[in-house]
Amino acid sequence: MCGIVGYIGENPERNLLYKLRLLEYRGYDSAGIAVSRGTSGAPSENNPLAVTKRAGELKNLENAVAQAGVTAGARLGIGHTRWATHGKPDATNAHPHVSSDGKWAVVHNGIIENHCELKRFLQNEGYSFYSETDTETIAKLLEYFEKRGFAPLQAIKRACDVLQGSFALAVLHENDDAIYFAKNKSPLYLAFSKRSNKKTATVQQADADAEAEGDLFIASDVVCFNDFAEEYYALPDKTYGFATAEKAEFYDGTGEIRLSSEKINAKSLCLRNNYAHYMLKEIYDTKNAIKEETDYFKTHLTRENYPLLFQPRAFKKIILTGCGTAYHAALTGARIIEEKCGADCEVYVGSEFYNAGYKLNKHALVVLISQSGETADTLAALTFAKEKGAATLAMINAEHSTLAKAADMALPVNAGAEIAVASTKAYSCQLVALYALAQTFQAAERQLPRPDLSGADELVKRLSYGDEEELRSFATLFGEGKKLFFIGRGTDYFTALEASLKIKETSYINADVYYAGELKHGFLALVDENAYVTAFATQKDTFLKTLSNAKEAQARGAKIILFTTASQEETKPYENSFFRILRVPKTDDALQSVQNVLPWQLIAYFLSVSKGLNPDKPRNLAKSVTVE
Ligand code: M6R
Repeated sequence: MCGIVGYIGENPERNLLYKLRLLEYRGYDSAGIAVSRGTSGAPSENNPLAVTKRAGELKNLENAVAQAGVTAGARLGIGHTRWATHGKPDATNAHPHVSSDGKWAVVHNGIIENHCELKRFLQNEGYSFYSETDTETIAKLLEYFEKRGFAPLQAIKRACDVLQGSFALAVLHENDDAIYFAKNKSPLYLAFSKRSNKKTATVQQADADAEAEGDLFIASDVVCFNDFAEEYYALPDKTYGFATAEKAEFYDGTGEIRLSSEKINAKSLCLRNNYAHYMLKEIYDTKNAIKEETDYFKTHLTRENYPLLFQPRAFKKIILTGCGTAYHAALTGARIIEEKCGADCEVYVGSEFYNAGYKLNKHALVVLISQSGETADTLAALTFAKEKGAATLAMINAEHSTLAKAADMALPVNAGAEIAVASTKAYSCQLVALYALAQTFQAAERQLPRPDLSGADELVKRLSYGDEEELRSFATLFGEGKKLFFIGRGTDYFTALEASLKIKETSYINADVYYAGELKHGFLALVDENAYVTAFATQKDTFLKTLSNAKEAQARGAKIILFTTASQEETKPYENSFFRILRVPKTDDALQSVQNVLPWQLIAYFLSVSKGLNPDKPRNLAKSVTVE
């Protein structure tokens, strides 16, 4: 949520804007940059820091920068792409934010929880504010400390001491050759284009080092470093410091910390290739992603790497949590785990996880599912689980993420970078990872050395994306403006939830989802001849019951669409009941949901495109939701 970059080198325009493009998935309400020439002179004598910002997508900023030539001669820059939290998404609230004297420019990802209090204090000190953001408070606070005699780095420290909440900051100070930074809770990484041989940097008062040559980059996501750096620094919480083109100094104010300097996984590189949108490409990446994931599990999901998971009955309770799509994966995963090994499972959305409190102790395992590994609600759930002494397993796609590092164990789902805001291949890989986890628990029960993943191998062989023309015709149907209802039982209901979420977020069309059996308990009142009711009925044991519920809706005028694994022969007796039928191939029961979701992801995509929308960037949303 919000992407920030910092750059020192010869080509700020290319590097700032290009890196911002890579981070645009984190928010696209507005974008902005600030540049300076450092000690060799400022872009304009009277305007040491040149700030350019525009509302809307990054291309608006790119046009403005190109027209005004604002980066000419600049060597340092910071940039921001915004998902609005405080204040509407306009140019005034866009970052960077500047101090009243124009000496400081700040970009920020996170939320300053005490900004109202700080703002009041600064207003009493004579400062006036031009925006509705919490970030402007930081710029004014830096000016306040500087005016009281603190050098820039000390002003940063003082500001960090009083700021409450989450922040990743990149800061320019007029005429300095450095970018200042600070981090608490929101992710922040630093890399040089050529690294020295040092493998770690020591954080210590005044003499921390990270020597290097070449250009310097700071960013919210390592995706920005993939094209040039093999290693980067992942800043720990409560760190502040500065970086020049030659070195970086990190401070924690208390003592020595070792910063991790990690190899970047080249798989994070993500190209759209010839696909019109990332979402489409990522859906069609699913089969390969599952194959790679399964191969990885075969070698890595072992007793040696995860001894706790291989202990029979190690946990009295298994609690799964996640947000949005990851929550839907958790719902399905809990059923699979229960069926495979009889474990006692419960599922919570991240923001409601505190309700699991009284069930948490050292006998509980909490599985935290997240594509990004940076979702604030899921991170809060992790903190809560750890406080209660539960064991924690992060099931993440971004393997260098905060969640991956902070949990006791991490199981990467290896879907590869996912750029489109709507999660697709990551969801499918989460389902496969949950299946692998269930198989691991089963292997533990049976004292087997490794989980049996043959079901996933079979899935890869048979997985079908369906017929594009047929799926487009369903997209057309759902775009007609009828009332949409999705009903199902068991895991079919969970797939319906995910199908509905995909349609809602990419097409802004509502599809109400109900347990099929619940329809008659009230929701049937919504159904009339203007309704399409889709019955998700891919499980044999609930097929007839779901069918009856659909017929109850049909009797009230609704048109019924059947989504099923049943063959033509099997549905023949009910042929007249359905307006349309969409069939999917049958797979291993525990993996059926992976097959089931694929056509719905494609239908959502085609629906979005048919409405003239950009499915990669749904309105009001961001890929990585780093606020609670
Ligand atoms: O990165 P995470 O998996 O933790 O993200 C959780 C949700 O924000 C995410 O799944 C969201 O619901 C997606 N936009 C769904 O497509």
